[in-house]
Amino acid sequence: MSLHEIRHPLVKHKLGLLRQQSLSTRSFRQLTAEVGSLLTYEATSDLELEDYKVDTWMGPAPAQRIKGKKVTVVPILRAGIGMLDGVLELIPSAKVSVVGVYRDEETLEPVAYFEKLAHDIDERLALVIDPMLATGGSLVACIDMLKKAGCKQIRALVLVAAPEGIEKVTAAHPDVDIYTASVDQGLNDAGYIVPGLGDAGDKIFGTR
Ligand code: URA
Repeated sequence: MSLHEIRHPLVKHKLGLLRQQSLSTRSFRQLTAEVGSLLTYEATSDLELEDYKVDTWMGPAPAQRIKGKKVTVVPILRAGIGMLDGVLELIPSAKVSVVGVYRDEETLEPVAYFEKLAHDIDERLALVIDPMLATGGSLVACIDMLKKAGCKQIRALVLVAAPEGIEKVTAAHPDVDIYTASVDQGLNDAGYIVPGLGDAGDKIFGTR
């Protein structure tokens, strides 16, 4: 796997705004979507193109388009939904495959409880979206599920990543690339990323 920490000035600027303590739900939502778009731009920069002819005002001209079955976006419930609009802004025709994962209170293991995947996911690049890569449990469970469904090409887009989560995902799925706006210090005792963003799901949905 490779880790891509995106150092584009727009990404860093928007991430700084996202970290602000007093940010409205509206602004947090908007910035989450915007950084989601910028991560999508980076994560699709090597998609294969094919040549074709387009009819222009001057007659046929050479053009290029993305080859093959393209993309499915995979938001992990609930917070992943916050990045969805940003991804679809750049890839409006992408299929959306929704995955739900919760953590069992006794075993503390992530359990997948919802799955509605694109029927042809085995032919698509899956862009998994979740704002926070903390312990990595949910992301690993989601990738397990996607691979079981036949998905062969998977990339993860997260706003902020903890080294612990990166390590866990890399160990379980070395073939999955991770795109993030920041690799932060690490996790605190409650499992929150430091400095992170706080509870991203609550901030996106305004349920704090
Ligand atoms: N989930 C969050 O929303 N924030 C964290 O810091 C960790 C997990």
